[in-house]
Amino acid sequence: MRLGVNIDHVATVREARQIREPDPIAAAVLADLAGAHGTVCHLREDRRHIKDRDVYFLREIVNSHLNLEMAATDEMVKIAIDLKPDMVTLVPEKREELTTEGGLEIAANRDHLREVINQLRKQKIITSLFIEPDIRQIKASARVKADFVELHTGRYANLRSKILLADELDRIGSAAVAAGKLGLGVSAGHGLNYHNVQEIVKIREIEELNIGHSIIGRALFVGIQQAVREMVELIK
Ligand code: PXP
Repeated sequence: MRLGVNIDHVATVREARQIREPDPIAAAVLADLAGAHGTVCHLREDRRHIKDRDVYFLREIVNSHLNLEMAATDEMVKIAIDLKPDMVTLVPEKREELTTEGGLEIAANRDHLREVINQLRKQKIITSLFIEPDIRQIKASARVKADFVELHTGRYANLRSKILLADELDRIGSAAVAAGKLGLGVSAGHGLNYHNVQEIVKIREIEELNIGHSIIGRALFVGIQQAVREMVELIK
């Protein structure tokens, strides 16, 4: 299973002071050297952490896979077409949220999403849709001709009841199988950490995990390379 390391939180620390350090670009280089498959970052409309400058430097520097998370707006599509990341992950975005809260509602935005996916495909950019592990969203993702779906694991990560956890794991597993059958690539992410990732790793259809907060949090104590190595070891 591949690991994409989300470096947004390095930029969040930088923006706490609005200076030049710590630089998320350095984090991406070190994560790459420690065995991460790729770098993930979210260029938000309000630029609260990752900035335009960061994504352009990342494109220059990241030799592995660059996955740009963004809202499906005209501004972002323009940037993606210019930047040419390896993958774009389309996410819902609200200004007032602390982090991406839910998955995309595909059917309600079908025509727009199909058009965005088409535009990105012309530039040879793979498109992933961040969705709840819900069969309705999987089918709609296939209909708009996405390449990948990223299954939202936030609910799984927040549950404490063992029974509800087992149900949610089943839901994620079934969604992954359904997506695979429809020819979609499958990744997962949100809220995954060193304790809860093992059960997700058992779902064979999931090819890639995108993890940020837990890795950057652990990096404060053990360094980013050690934090990435430990996660790579857990998920391989
Ligand atoms: N995947 C997507 C689509 C996200 O929006 C995020 C959060 O930026 C992540 C994965 C990573 O989540 P976390 O920081 O909780 O690991």
